[in-house]
Amino acid sequence: MDATPPQPDDTSGAAIANARTLGEALTLAERWLRSVPDSESAALDAQLLLAHVTGLARTTILAYPERPLAPEDAERYAALVTRRVAREPVAYLTGHREFMGLDFLTDVRALIPRPETELLVEAALAEVRARLAAPTSPAPVVADIGTGSGAIAVALARLEPRLATVYATDVSADALSLARENAQRMGVAERIRFLEGDLLLPLPEPVDVVLANLPYVAPRDAPSLPDDVRRYEPSLALYGDDDGLGHLRGLFAQLPGRLAPGAAILLEFGYDQRAAVVALAQTSFPAAGIHIVADYAGWDRLAVIRTGEL
Ligand SMILES: C[S@@+](CC[C@H](N)C(=O)[O-])C[C@H]1O[C@@H](n2cnc3c(N)ncnc32)[C@H](O)[C@@H]1O
Repeated sequence: MDATPPQPDDTSGAAIANARTLGEALTLAERWLRSVPDSESAALDAQLLLAHVTGLARTTILAYPERPLAPEDAERYAALVTRRVAREPVAYLTGHREFMGLDFLTDVRALIPRPETELLVEAALAEVRARLAAPTSPAPVVADIGTGSGAIAVALARLEPRLATVYATDVSADALSLARENAQRMGVAERIRFLEGDLLLPLPEPVDVVLANLPYVAPRDAPSLPDDVRRYEPSLALYGDDDGLGHLRGLFAQLPGRLAPGAAILLEFGYDQRAAVVALAQTSFPAAGIHIVADYAGWDRLAVIRTGEL
C-alpha cells in the first residue's frame, strides 16, 4: 500500500500565485517544497521551475529577486510547484533534461536520462573511437538496447558524427516515439534506426558494440524507490524480473549469433549487482576481458565486456 502522497496545499499554492516578484515566488516555493518528504532538491527544483516559466536563466533569477513576476507567470508557477509537491519529476514538468550537454525532451513515455548513464556514453565513445582509429577498420555498427528517450543512441550519434549506423531498440512504442523526436531535434535521425521489439531480436545484422541500460530494479525493491520515480516513471523502464537481472539474462541469451567478431558489450547495472553481472558475462564469454567502471559516488555501475581482440 502506498503511503499517502503529499497533499497540495491550497494556501501555499495561492500564496505563490499572488507573488509579485521573482524572489518572493522563489522563497515561497522553496519553503513549500522543503516541507515534503524527499525534498533534498527543493531549492534547485524551485529555481528550475521558475526559470522554465519565465524563460529566464537561474542566475538571472537569483541575481534580480526584486524583478516583477507577471501574474500569469505566477499562476503557472504555482500550478507547477503544486505538481512538484505531489512529487511529479521536474523533468516531466519542464519537458526537458540535460544529458551529455544536450537538451533532451522528456515525458512520461520514457525514463528520464540519469547522470550515471553519461558514464556509459563516455565509455561507448572511447570504444567507438578506438575502433575508428584502427587501420582499415570500417565504422563500427552500434546497438543501444532499451533506448527509452534515445539518450544513449542520440548522444552517441551526435557526439561521434563518423558513426554511420546506430540501432536503437525498445519494446515500448511510446518510448520509441519520444526517442525519434529527440533524434530529429538533435539532427541525427538519419543515422539511427529505431526498432520495436524484445532486446536484440529486431537487429538486422551482427553488431560491433552493444550498449544497454536495461531495467534492473528488483520488483521487491519498489517500495524503496523515491516517490517521484515509483509513481511517475514507466514501470517497464524500471523493473527487471526476480532479482532485477532478468533483462540482462535475456540479453546474454540472445547475444550468440548477433555479435561481430571482437564485439564489445557495455552494460549499466545497479549498485549492488556487480558480482552477478560479472558472473553472467564470464559464463557467456569465458575468455572476455571485463572492465568495471565506478560512478562518481564510487559505486560500480558499468561493465565493459570485450569478447576478443579489436
Ligand atoms: C532503464 S530504461 C533506460 C532508457 C535509456 N536507455 C536511458 O538510459 O535513459 C530501460 C528501457 O528498456 C526498455 N525495455 C524494457 N524491456 C525491454 C525489452 N525486453 N526489450 C527492449 N527494451 C526493453 C524500457 O521500455 C525502457 O525504455
